[in-house]
Amino acid sequence: MIRSVVKGVGTSLPRRIMKNSEFETLVDTTDEWIVQRTGITQRHIAGDDESTASLGEAAARAALDAAGLTPADIDLIVLATSTPNNTFPATAVEIQNRLGITHGFAFDLQAVCSGFVYAITTADLHLRGGMAKRALVIGSETFSRILDWTDRTTCVLFGDGAGAVVLEAEEGTGALTDQGIIAASLRSDGSHKQKLYVDGGPSTTGKVGVLRMEGKEVFKHAVGMITDVIEETFRQGEITADQLDWFVPHQANRRIIEASAKKLGIPMEKVVVTVDLHGNTSAASVPLALASAVADGRIKKGDLVLLEAMGGGFTWGAVLLRW
Ligand code: ACO
Repeated sequence: MIRSVVKGVGTSLPRRIMKNSEFETLVDTTDEWIVQRTGITQRHIAGDDESTASLGEAAARAALDAAGLTPADIDLIVLATSTPNNTFPATAVEIQNRLGITHGFAFDLQAVCSGFVYAITTADLHLRGGMAKRALVIGSETFSRILDWTDRTTCVLFGDGAGAVVLEAEEGTGALTDQGIIAASLRSDGSHKQKLYVDGGPSTTGKVGVLRMEGKEVFKHAVGMITDVIEETFRQGEITADQLDWFVPHQANRRIIEASAKKLGIPMEKVVVTVDLHGNTSAASVPLALASAVADGRIKKGDLVLLEAMGGGFTWGAVLLRW
């Protein structure tokens, strides 16, 4: 039985850090409001020489280094992004080219903040189906380019960045103790489109547009959707919450993370939180959080790890894996 095993994880963040206090001169807000309502203290913002492709490439190279592999070893790239460099070609193919890879295949996947969870699930299916042997799964975003910088209800929430993992198909026994992805569950429901969307696009306005969100409405649905899809993933993996070593949720808002963990009975000591330092980096948030907990030694080989995300669409999903 083939399992997709994580061989390495890497990240890349734009050079420029923007503190909450900088917003006080742009819109009617305060550092105190942002920290209290979201947990965010700062975020990284891409400069003119940085893009979804450049950040994604850097994260991919870091993940390859951590795995002890080179670009030549990769035959699949799945990039989760809602902020591609161009409408087409796919930014995944641009990253493939930047890495000097001309074999295998690469494509973008768009599920907004759930993008990384969708992408790792998609790569897992390709590996288990025999379509590829080693995949780079990347979440890379430059949401700063699609923000309305005069709208205080959204511009303070997001940041730019990228995270990546290398997944490799390995023969396993099928036991819960095997390394690799154990279970995954994905959901979407387009009836919630108006609560979180970008007000432009190639087929409608012909312009890129900016993000619009009814934050309170998203918040109202988030905890229920997140906990439902996680409970489904636990059922599939035949585990209970107390068996988890680490919960790595999408980093949109500290209050959503805390409420979800509480509802699931997961103590906050087992929850990885990076929203304070990165803001909401959409598809990059889960791999950025995962990488931070691997880098500081919290996540260790053999740990049972749960990834989760919820975002525009709505889309939501969870992945259970043995590190
Ligand atoms: N500074 C000061 N005041 C503000 C700010 C700000 N930056 N933003 C909003 N306010 C005001 C509002 O105008 C409102 O004022 P009013 O009472 O006079 O009308 C008041 O603060 C309260 O606003 P709410 O929207 O009720 O605040 P809430 O506690 O719900 O927090 C937030 C807002 C942080 C957006 C929260 O609702 C949230 O996190 N929502 C979910 C976001 C999310 O998870 N998105 C999904 C992923 S993103 C993706 O997929 C791209």
